[in-house]
Amino acid sequence: MKIIHTLPELRTHLAQFKHPALVPTMGNLHEGHLALVRQAKPLGDVTVVSIFVNRLQFAPHEDFDTYPRTLVADCAKLESAGCDVVFAPSEKEFYPEPQTFKVFPPPELADILEGHFRPGFFTGVCTVVLKLFNAVFSEAQGSRVAVFGKKDYQQQMVIHRMVQQFALPITILTGDTLRAPDGLALSSRNGYLSAQERTEAVQLSMALKAMAASLQKGEKDIAALEARAMQTLADRGWQPDYLTVRRRHDLQAPQTGDFGGGALAVLGAARLGKTRLIDNLEV
Ligand code: PAF
Repeated sequence: MKIIHTLPELRTHLAQFKHPALVPTMGNLHEGHLALVRQAKPLGDVTVVSIFVNRLQFAPHEDFDTYPRTLVADCAKLESAGCDVVFAPSEKEFYPEPQTFKVFPPPELADILEGHFRPGFFTGVCTVVLKLFNAVFSEAQGSRVAVFGKKDYQQQMVIHRMVQQFALPITILTGDTLRAPDGLALSSRNGYLSAQERTEAVQLSMALKAMAASLQKGEKDIAALEARAMQTLADRGWQPDYLTVRRRHDLQAPQTGDFGGGALAVLGAARLGKTRLIDNLEV
């Protein structure tokens, strides 16, 4: 496995391959990331994982400075998962000057849910992802594939739409969320939880499961369902941002015809102590 820190070296190295498969990450990797790498592996002739903590997608009060940088451990895990190339640029390498050209995704996709609570988040994500695509795929001559996790449900949707609207010759695939035995979705931010918080953390996925079960039983009063779920977590000491039922294809509130046909997802984000967790389930 080759570890590359600069764009020229990456381009030179990738020139010998035709079909790169990319898994973009911010490092601090867990089994969920490695599952994406294993999914990507048979889809290209070289599997590239990028590790870059992208300042552009963090608000000033968020955890950019404290986000764990664990390159050595990450590389060991990636090697065992069959990754061929790790692209881990420094900030100076990837943003040699302030990144003032940016991708602004449409508000109806990017200013709701995560984008509402993290203004500018999807501009930061789309900008870095487009730049990573340029870095990894510019020399490719055949199929180009990038794999994103479904835990970041809105993120994978926004990226799908970006690729579609810019007509980028890249196939976007998604990988299922991996969960701990108690049901907690694997996330780099789970490492921030204290032992007590870790025990409590499963309640987010339990709340989403309860919402999904109500929908499957025919519940149509979405406002009441959402309010109940928010209250359940608030009563346990969480600060929920949203627990909501949305249409899978555009993440808008469901209309009458959307019920009962596998068209919905329940999505949640809530803070437990200082840690903000997100999760979702397709219904
Ligand atoms: O999901 C992530 O880890 C990041 O948002 C991504 C896609 C690597 C962009 O920085």
